[in-house]
Amino acid sequence: MLTSLNELPQYKKNGPKLAVLTAYDYPTGRMLDEAGVDLLLVGDSLGMVVLGLPDTTGVTMEMMLHHTSAVCRGVKRAPVIADLPYASYTTPEMAVANAKRLMDCGAACVKLEGGVSVLPQVRAIIAAGIPFVGHIGMLPQSVKEEGGYKKKGKTAESIDHLIADAKALDEAGAVAMVLESIVPDVATQITSLVKACTIGIGAGTATDGQVLVTPDLLGSFPWFRPPFAKARADVAGETMRAVREYMADVKTPA
Ligand code: KIV
Repeated sequence: MLTSLNELPQYKKNGPKLAVLTAYDYPTGRMLDEAGVDLLLVGDSLGMVVLGLPDTTGVTMEMMLHHTSAVCRGVKRAPVIADLPYASYTTPEMAVANAKRLMDCGAACVKLEGGVSVLPQVRAIIAAGIPFVGHIGMLPQSVKEEGGYKKKGKTAESIDHLIADAKALDEAGAVAMVLESIVPDVATQITSLVKACTIGIGAGTATDGQVLVTPDLLGSFPWFRPPFAKARADVAGETMRAVREYMADVKTPA
């Protein structure tokens, strides 16, 4: 299992694949770390699966700082990636200042969405000595501009953009990059083109690792689960069962 970001190039070269999961609180961070998950992501999916927001654009720096601190208090070994939320990296100066705040909470690196269009921000973060993880493909923070969550890499133009973004982030020095909702063949192509580890979600199986939103894996957010995410537990069902059993005991004591 991964103990430091410095080991990422070895994983890219020799494997095994990286298993990455999201965490938003202390107990989940601690359990995933103890289970041996390679990297933990305090994702801004927080907004949807924990805070009940309609999308990630309502997630603020204050929310990310609060939850990153909680996760980091539970983690001893796994490097923690913290998301820079919507509108927190409008300029390179903002990007660096907010990335430092997340690092001060105990994150090992920060992630933001975009490629060529945010290159000055990415370069500034890396120049400040902060390890950086990219995120290209379907970008949840752009859902309003895009008019929905759309798979990327279906047209020649989209493929060219993805490859330009991946190369730009790689050349800037990203240690890893999330490839979200990308046609699998294109994710495979990007994985072989870049030095950074690719971490796929809805992008096929050829990436250097996979990331899942933990409530999707655990079945603890029963109202929505993306088609590619296999629930391996039914935490929502088990919660309802335990709560009903408790209520029955309280209301009709033996
Ligand atoms: O916010 C998040 O959980 C993410 C993953 C979907 C990669 O960015």
